[in-house]
Amino acid sequence: MLSVTTSARLLLRRHRPLPLPARIRNASRTSPGDISILGQKYEIDGTTNITQSIITKLPLRLHNRPAHPLGILRSKIESHFHDFAHLSSVHPVVTPAQNFDLLGFPADHPGRSATDSYYVNKDCMLRTHTSAHEVETFATGQPKWLLTADVYRRDEIDSSHYPVFHQMEGARVFKTDQAAIEEVKADNERLSQYLDQSNIVIEDIPHVSPTNPVQPTHDPAHSELVALNLKLSINSLLLKLFGGGARDAPLQVRWIEAYFPFTSPSFEVEILYQGKWLEILGCGVIQQLTLDNAGGYQCHLLLSARPHDSLGIPDNIGWAFGLGLERIAMILFGIPDIRLFWSTDPRFLSQFSENQITTFKPYSKYPACFKDVSFWIPEAGLHENDFCDLVRDVAGDLAEDVKMVGCR
Ligand code: PHE
Repeated sequence: MLSVTTSARLLLRRHRPLPLPARIRNASRTSPGDISILGQKYEIDGTTNITQSIITKLPLRLHNRPAHPLGILRSKIESHFHDFAHLSSVHPVVTPAQNFDLLGFPADHPGRSATDSYYVNKDCMLRTHTSAHEVETFATGQPKWLLTADVYRRDEIDSSHYPVFHQMEGARVFKTDQAAIEEVKADNERLSQYLDQSNIVIEDIPHVSPTNPVQPTHDPAHSELVALNLKLSINSLLLKLFGGGARDAPLQVRWIEAYFPFTSPSFEVEILYQGKWLEILGCGVIQQLTLDNAGGYQCHLLLSARPHDSLGIPDNIGWAFGLGLERIAMILFGIPDIRLFWSTDPRFLSQFSENQITTFKPYSKYPACFKDVSFWIPEAGLHENDFCDLVRDVAGDLAEDVKMVGCR
């Protein structure tokens, strides 16, 4: 059974999906067979299931607003990976190939279904994760990059789910010649020393296991070094974001085995927060298929003039991670409901400033409503409590706050 709670109760009836023209309001339709998304026309077909409320979110790009919690968090993570390329304006419409096939998703993966993803038409969809841009970004030859974007998934309605949220993808690839391997070793040594002196307790698992194997084309020693570099880089990021507790309350991080079609070995990382383990991100050693596909993409686009072209992407080995910004921002800023990120209310927006993590101060979910009331009072005076009882009798608990602003 579905129960819907809104300030004015909605009636939810089970019905067959509405025909397309009713679901996508005229505003986005340029002709009976088209919709316009971010100024570009797309043909609609039987696969189209993107809705008007989703289309209105596409231009908002909350992660690019410097004084919005998502923008503040993005900058903080970017400052940690300061020598990485920082990308954050990538178009949300991708092909199912970018979102799934090029990353090795099986044909029957549930994420592909129209009940889970938003399709513009049979050939185009809204990205469901930032990994959809891995192949094209590796194809530019960038060896270290972060990419932040809005992602779209059809989901339930509650305080921690929203059909649009924001992810950050981070990746680093290494050449496999001796000099490059020595560099990774040195980087690992430096990061290990830093973490050893820090207030963090890490529960870890072996980099590889029979159920989470090294890829057949990888030298096991290289895969191990890369997995270690990934773990050290992520642990130091978590320390930057969540560290800073008392000496006797170190940050607790745990690594667990995971599965993603586009990484192996794969991991999930959790932190202990208010007595519960909270999943923070997914990551792993990039599947060679992704780098091979990036190489194919490079040839296809004839990118020979690009500066990093000599990278020879398919010969590299690397790591990637993907994290959800809302989940982390909710913890850091103390924001209790994911829907607040979309608020245009000055009582929300004015609380945050560029580069500062501050604790959210709750305010009424109702818009402020001023009533100027004037009346005669008995000569003996009227106690404020008498007035409050009067308000209570009329408005019940709907009145959240009554203040005397002046008295003559
Ligand atoms: N794209 C994955 C997700 O959305 C996260 C991920 C990114 C995992 C990169 C591994 C590597 O859950």
